[in-house]
Amino acid sequence: MAVTINTLREYKQRGEAFSALTSYDATFAQLVSEAGVDVILIGDSLGMVLQGNDSTLPVTMDQMVYHVSCVAKGNRGSLVMADMPFMSYGTTEAALENAAKLMRAGAHMVKLEGTGWMRDTIQALSERGVPVCAHLGLTPQFVNKFGGYKVQGRDEKAADLMVEHACELEAAGADVILLECVPAALAARIAKAVKAPVIGIGAGADTDGQVLVVYDMLGMTPGRKPRFVKNFLAENGSVTNALAAYAKAVSERTFPAEEHTFKA
Ligand code: KIV
Ligand code: NA
Repeated sequence: MAVTINTLREYKQRGEAFSALTSYDATFAQLVSEAGVDVILIGDSLGMVLQGNDSTLPVTMDQMVYHVSCVAKGNRGSLVMADMPFMSYGTTEAALENAAKLMRAGAHMVKLEGTGWMRDTIQALSERGVPVCAHLGLTPQFVNKFGGYKVQGRDEKAADLMVEHACELEAAGADVILLECVPAALAARIAKAVKAPVIGIGAGADTDGQVLVVYDMLGMTPGRKPRFVKNFLAENGSVTNALAAYAKAVSERTFPAEEHTFKA
């Protein structure tokens, strides 16, 4: 049966963890969904891993639409989540128009990066039939404001503010919250504070779901690997086995381990 937002809510209610991975093409989408990964994210990380840019900022709407349509064709029942690229939701009007393009291409949900300012936009999308994931914490589209890719929510004030934003955005209609690179204790606090399923990346083991960039978890990404990444291909021999091992490790909460986690 196809995964829907209800499936994710049920996972949370049962206290079971669900898995998500990025894909950018039909081949990976089919392998990822057939491995039992619940959510496929067409991440704007494609600006880095496919296009070779040093940030996600150059990614355009047309490129996102193209990759969403490729993934939608390969998908075999996972929930398809699509990133809205940099400045495609700078105003609510732009967000409505651009989210519609991603939904028409085959997305089931869109993801926006930001904080409390996204409230009105999320409400407008939600009221018009577009499920939204609100991405908080290390939001890579803000790399120039952060002055680098840094763990977020480390001090008490920033942590309290993130909890507040998660609650506000849920109240505005966000169906899912995604937390990137935040201390595990803060992610656990947010997962408790909201009813919406919370997906983590570099956010510890106590979120409702986990996500990774597929090339990272296959050990394909050159250079220094982030703390939260585990290579599942090394121990599992094939791409298919690595994807299945990831889904199993997330569901059994053996991934992420302490070594993949940030402390405050
Ligand atoms: O673009 C992406 O791949 C993402 C995930 C890392 C959460 O936003
Ligand atoms: Na992204």
